[in-house]
Amino acid sequence: MERLQKIISQAGVASRRTAEKMIEEGRVTVDGVVATLGAQADAASQTICVDGKPLKKAEAHVYFLLNKPKGYISTAKDERGRKTVLDLLPEVAERIYPVGRLDNGTEGLLLLTNDGELMNGLLHPAREVWKTYVAQVEGRLTRAELQTLRNGVALEDGVTAPAKARVLDWDDRQGRTKLEISIHEGKNRQVRRMCEAVGHPVQALKRTEFAGLSLSGVKRGEHRALSEDEVAYLYELAKDPVSGGRRKG
Ligand code: URA
Repeated sequence: MERLQKIISQAGVASRRTAEKMIEEGRVTVDGVVATLGAQADAASQTICVDGKPLKKAEAHVYFLLNKPKGYISTAKDERGRKTVLDLLPEVAERIYPVGRLDNGTEGLLLLTNDGELMNGLLHPAREVWKTYVAQVEGRLTRAELQTLRNGVALEDGVTAPAKARVLDWDDRQGRTKLEISIHEGKNRQVRRMCEAVGHPVQALKRTEFAGLSLSGVKRGEHRALSEDEVAYLYELAKDPVSGGRRKG
């Protein structure tokens, strides 16, 4: 059971506030009975009408964690017919969307869902959801460059927020460094631009964690459904502006 104004707004008919007004104006019925403000209903089993028109039945929510390979774009549809991340998932009746984006050339963890409320909550900048990447970059970073990545890098659209950055490995023969970087912003191509700005262009990029969820057990190109516990945990994060997916410390 949920409040009527929430059900109406989730059905895309109106904002919650407008839905409240509609209820007050007597324009909403539940199973044929005019509803009053504060009433609750079950969208799956009851018929809710606004101005005599039934709301579409709420569709079941689905949540997937995908290990995206390079060469797939993170949109639901591509005008130019390129491969999209949806090509990697089973055909589901629900319209699902990626939670944020990974570049075509980036691989790794991408969540997909048809739950717009959760998606918007997780993408809201105030939630500060942490994302971790492993980047293969050209050359060897100095301490000062590493510290700049952590403190904030001046990009054309502003200085990046404090990040975590550490060197995982240095390949002397190839002259490249494996870096782990965690950020909680979602600027376009942020990790690539941060590394480029400190003089170390990215050669390969993989997202290994999103909001504390990892790729563990999910091979490249494969996916799994999120568990109920994971969805509940993401819901907590999506409404809590401070914890930001730092459950792993
Ligand atoms: N940062 C990038 O540069 N690319 C991505 O795909 C994600 C984060």
